[in-house]
Amino acid sequence: MTRFVTYQTQQQQHCSTSTSTQLLSDNNMSKVVCVTGGSGCIGSWLVHLLLHRGYTVHATVQNLNDDNETKHLQALEGAQTNLRLFQIDLLNYDTVLAAVHGCDGVFHLASPCIVDKVRDPQVCFSL
Ligand SMILES: NC(=O)c1ccc[n+]([C@@H]2O[C@H](COP(=O)([O-])OP(=O)(O)OC[C@H]3O[C@@H](n4cnc5c(N)ncnc54)[C@H](OP(=O)(O)O)[C@@H]3O)[C@@H](O)[C@H]2O)c1
Repeated sequence: MTRFVTYQTQQQQHCSTSTSTQLLSDNNMSKVVCVTGGSGCIGSWLVHLLLHRGYTVHATVQNLNDDNETKHLQALEGAQTNLRLFQIDLLNYDTVLAAVHGCDGVFHLASPCIVDKVRDPQVCFSL
């Protein structure tokens, strides 16, 4: 119980004192991180967070010519200056290497999501 209260207090302090200006001055300006699967559900939120915190982000997509994979990332605040998009295929070593080259860290989220079309969830998930 005490630990929870302490944690919550730190979170509240952080939230109450953090502005976008302060987050950007967290000394992350020189750090470069790669987010594979940057166009995806989790990846795009992570890209948003990292840009907000001042990182330079290498985000990967499968097709640079597909607006559905790129537009929402390019529209993020900070994207114009701190976001670079890379086209990768997970099974192509050189494309992945190009995306992670020069990065201080990599968030590896890219993964094919292979799910058969669900026609009737009641039938599909009943035991
Ligand atoms: N969402 C969840 O609830 C959940 C829960 C547990 C674990 N996870 C794991 O978290 C990770 C991200 O999940 P998500 O929900 O964000 O998935 P998602 O929205 O389907 O995004 C998957 C990402 O992987 C990329 N990708 C797929 N196949 C690829 C390939 N062959 N080469 C290169 N990139 C490829 C996609 O690129 P394009 O968009 O360009 O096609 C997309 O950016 C996955 O590993 C997933 O298994 C997710």
